[in-house]
Amino acid sequence: MSSGLEDVVAAETVLSDVDGKNGRLIVRGVSLDELVKSSRYEDVLELLFDGFLDMPANMRAALGAARVEVFHHLQAVDADLLALSPVDGLRALLARLPDGDDTDAALKLVAGPGVFTAGLLRLRAGEALVPPNAALSHAEDILTMLHGTAPVAQQVAALDRYLVTVADHGLNASTFVARVVASTQSGLTSSVVAALGALKGPLHGGAPGPVLDMLDGVGTPDNATAWLDDALARGERLMGFGHRVYRVRDPRADALKGAVRLLAVSGAIDPARLALAEGIEAAALDLLKRKKPDRALDTNVEFYTALLLEALGFPREAFTCVFAMGRVGGWIAHAREQAIGGRLIRPQSVYVGPVGRVAA
Ligand code: COA
Repeated sequence: MSSGLEDVVAAETVLSDVDGKNGRLIVRGVSLDELVKSSRYEDVLELLFDGFLDMPANMRAALGAARVEVFHHLQAVDADLLALSPVDGLRALLARLPDGDDTDAALKLVAGPGVFTAGLLRLRAGEALVPPNAALSHAEDILTMLHGTAPVAQQVAALDRYLVTVADHGLNASTFVARVVASTQSGLTSSVVAALGALKGPLHGGAPGPVLDMLDGVGTPDNATAWLDDALARGERLMGFGHRVYRVRDPRADALKGAVRLLAVSGAIDPARLALAEGIEAAALDLLKRKKPDRALDTNVEFYTALLLEALGFPREAFTCVFAMGRVGGWIAHAREQAIGGRLIRPQSVYVGPVGRVAA
């Protein structure tokens, strides 16, 4: 019997390739290892958008201008919106941007997560908003809008590396959502808002906050094995480990571990916190190997993301918003690729219910 699923082949894309067997991520032909060496987030946007949107003459300046343009939406934040979690507040503000398919719409959507998250966090803390500065890079401006002071070069480099690392990752759940919405010829804002809804779940982009909860729970490296063993015995999953596609170490984990170590060298992260994380990672990998021998469970992107974003001063309840700051570039590129060349995505369901019943 036909399942009807034969037509549902993997979407073809020129954007990125996740090689789960060998632990490699390729973005438009460039491996992640290469990409993180020198690229800024603006460079990756150019890479992703090429052929799908009209490219601005100067991406950094155009994105800076878009940050300035979207800033006024923060004036609409009222007590109800402020009472939402940061990611729900971000979703509400992004939904205010006009739907469209052009570069202008795209750049406002890229600008939105940085501007809105920094603004929401300041308002939640009872602090005055810091307006964007179009002359800065995206990463530097986000940190400046968040803290109200100029970040040091290593902090900017670390956030840039994070944004580059998470910008695109094949057909993950939120990117799939973005493509489904785009396949109906809806606009980019609709795609991005829907994708953010998928990202916020703890099994996708919501894991790094719980990673820090785990670090706090463990407390000291010598307590790691006992604490993690108890968690596994309770049937819990260890946050920051395992992946649907990678059967070896997630290459993004090492890209971010490198950034965390750089922050440690520059004194921007507490060495004891790093030692705790490394101790937990080693204990978790050892335990997972012993307790789940038939599964290949290794460190994923979220583990060192947690440490990195904490060191940059983002509160853990806003980590998913920071993920969105980077992934939004991938969502938009995929939505454009789907809208330009794809068909309506309409998978068939497989009916497994009863047949021949008579209506009461
Ligand atoms: N800790 C403990 N056990 C884990 C685990 C983890 N982090 N990840 C997977 N497993 C176990 C499951 O309990 C399950 O075991 P069982 O078959 O004995 O019930 C099995 O491994 C499932 O493995 P797999 O098919 O590889 O995972 P998945 O595709 O169902 O799930 C994730 C992938 C990412 C959802 C899962 O690994 C997870 O929940 N990780 C923690 C959350 C996280 O870090 N998310 C961020 C992802 S980038």
